Amino acid sequence: MSIGAVGSPHDTLYQSAQAVLPGGVSSSIRYNKALGRPFYIGRGEGAYVYDLEGREYVDLLTSHGATILGHNHPGIRAAIEEALRCGIVCSFETPAQSRVAAALAEMVPCVDMVRFTCSGTEATMHSIRLAREYTGRDKIIKFDGHFHGLHDYVMWNYGGWSPAGAVEAGGPAGAPRHVARSGGIPAGIADYVLVLPGNDLEAVRRAFWLHGHEIAAVILEPIHYNAGCIVPPKDYLHGLRELTREYGVVLIFDEVLSAFRTGPGCAQAYFNVVPDLCTIGKCVAGGTPLSVFGGRREIMEHLRPLGNAEHSGTYNGHLIPIMAAEVCLREINKPGFYDHLYALAGRLYDGMNAIFQRHGLPARCQGLGARFGLYFGFTEEVRMYRETERQDTALALRFFKGMAERGVYFCDGGGKPMHHGFSAAHTLADMDRVLQATEDTVKAIQAGR
Ligand SMILES: Cc1ncc(COP(=O)(O)O)c(C=O)c1O
Repeated sequence: MSIGAVGSPHDTLYQSAQAVLPGGVSSSIRYNKALGRPFYIGRGEGAYVYDLEGREYVDLLTSHGATILGHNHPGIRAAIEEALRCGIVCSFETPAQSRVAAALAEMVPCVDMVRFTCSGTEATMHSIRLAREYTGRDKIIKFDGHFHGLHDYVMWNYGGWSPAGAVEAGGPAGAPRHVARSGGIPAGIADYVLVLPGNDLEAVRRAFWLHGHEIAAVILEPIHYNAGCIVPPKDYLHGLRELTREYGVVLIFDEVLSAFRTGPGCAQAYFNVVPDLCTIGKCVAGGTPLSVFGGRREIMEHLRPLGNAEHSGTYNGHLIPIMAAEVCLREINKPGFYDHLYALAGRLYDGMNAIFQRHGLPARCQGLGARFGLYFGFTEEVRMYRETERQDTALALRFFKGMAERGVYFCDGGGKPMHHGFSAAHTLADMDRVLQATEDTVKAIQAGR
């Protein structure tokens, strides 16, 4: 399949889009290096997206994880239509916000109360501010490679942008040197952010020993999907829970991505570790823009008008995503929902690894629940973010281009390890289609085509 050739609708759109959208995109990551342009689509349906020439692709981007029910789900459509019938009202409270809040409190272990935001970025920003107000302390700890959105306090050391060798010999608590992930971030912000290596309880213990009285919060991805899929070692999260409790530090699980991948109780239920606060985003509202931060009542009651932490916004709790969330949470709770997702996961992850091994391609698929990472240049399990800097990006880009040519879409992440996934609308037959495309792509790569 030849896609995006010169003169094709994709090429023409890319030319005109660049005149009015920097790089031809609305979000930097949508420039697809493997294709040499953004991946433009006309529509999505269930497990598939269709490009501007009507070609069908099995979608393994799934809106960066937002469409857990698949595209154009009839229940989500009906919810949106219901919100339209109510007059598209926003900036009002309605019964629907309380119903969704109550459903989340029922499902997610740490949640007594929630507040709604439009994006995961806002959710992590507000939970960090709330933790600061609650503790009266200013600093936070984040971990090397963990991604928490695009505000200045969290845009450090992630996405393959922490160069090997950035660890300062003898630096504070053996911490990696700060690497800002964007221009325009004031260097002084780094004074408020300690970046520690992930999955290293000793590093946290040392940092607490040195700075414990200054630290408001520890924020982390409980499953490190933004580096592909790195699962924390046994007891690490329990250890973090104990240490944060001992030092009076707010433990924030950023579940914007991990929420509802492994079960209705999110990663915190999967690991049986209850944080103080968590953020939830992406698939909570079936592909419509909603994120959530929530947690212990005692902390959440520090938000205005009860306390002194500000959280406001014109679109907070907008009726369209709120009504969609109500439906989405109901679907997630249906019997068999996760049996299906785990059956798909097993078929896909084992199948890809078997193909890589059979053809001697140095690549690995690592997944947990409905999201996974692909590592190129690796044959052993990837356990630490730092290892991912060895990714063979050229091989990754060849693989993703070959898969797109065979009707399977992955976000290429510039070749760096990132997360991929599927929805409940995918079937075992779709997974077999992905495996056939994998087999053909790997053979073509090995044959130098
Ligand atoms: C763990 C995590 N936190 C926060 C965010 C930011 O969410 P948003 O893109 O909705 O701002 C993301 C987005 O990918 C994420 O994966």
